[in-house]
Amino acid sequence: MTASPINSETSRPAGWQPQIIAFCCNYCAYAAADLAGARRMQYPPNVRVIHAPCTGKIEMEHILEAFEDGIDGILVAGCLEGGCHFQEGNLRARKRTDRIRAMLDEIGVGGNRLRMVNLSAAMAPTFVERVKEIVAEVARLGPNPLKAVSGHRAPGVTSLPVTGSTVNA
Ligand code: FES
Repeated sequence: MTASPINSETSRPAGWQPQIIAFCCNYCAYAAADLAGARRMQYPPNVRVIHAPCTGKIEMEHILEAFEDGIDGILVAGCLEGGCHFQEGNLRARKRTDRIRAMLDEIGVGGNRLRMVNLSAAMAPTFVERVKEIVAEVARLGPNPLKAVSGHRAPGVTSLPVTGSTVNA
């Protein structure tokens, strides 16, 4: 059963800007992000790029804990399918992100807060476009309802099941 979407419109503080993490694998995705910077391509400043050895090393708990800590959206960026430097890491990451998206929908947080993109090192424009897209989507969704407000979570939102959630499939 999918929970009703939580309306964040009513709890959107004035001046709120979505805080986004972009987990970039150390090879193609980070190179694409780096190239975007070198070319001075503009993308929203509220995106923090975090290096990962490979998207296959980004466990479910990393993503779930980031949401529990209040991040509003996450982009997982890896190599093109067939191009992962660790063979199938990006395929495992795709399965994980799909599962977490479904979980976020189910608890009413919104699966669209999490996206995955596959990039080659030359795909700086695509990286920038995907960043802009997730920022726009999360801005539309509003603040992460899991974000603690005065020590309380938003009504109707339960804690994410982080413990023992690592998936190696
Ligand atoms: Fe890029 Fe695995 S090394 S996704």
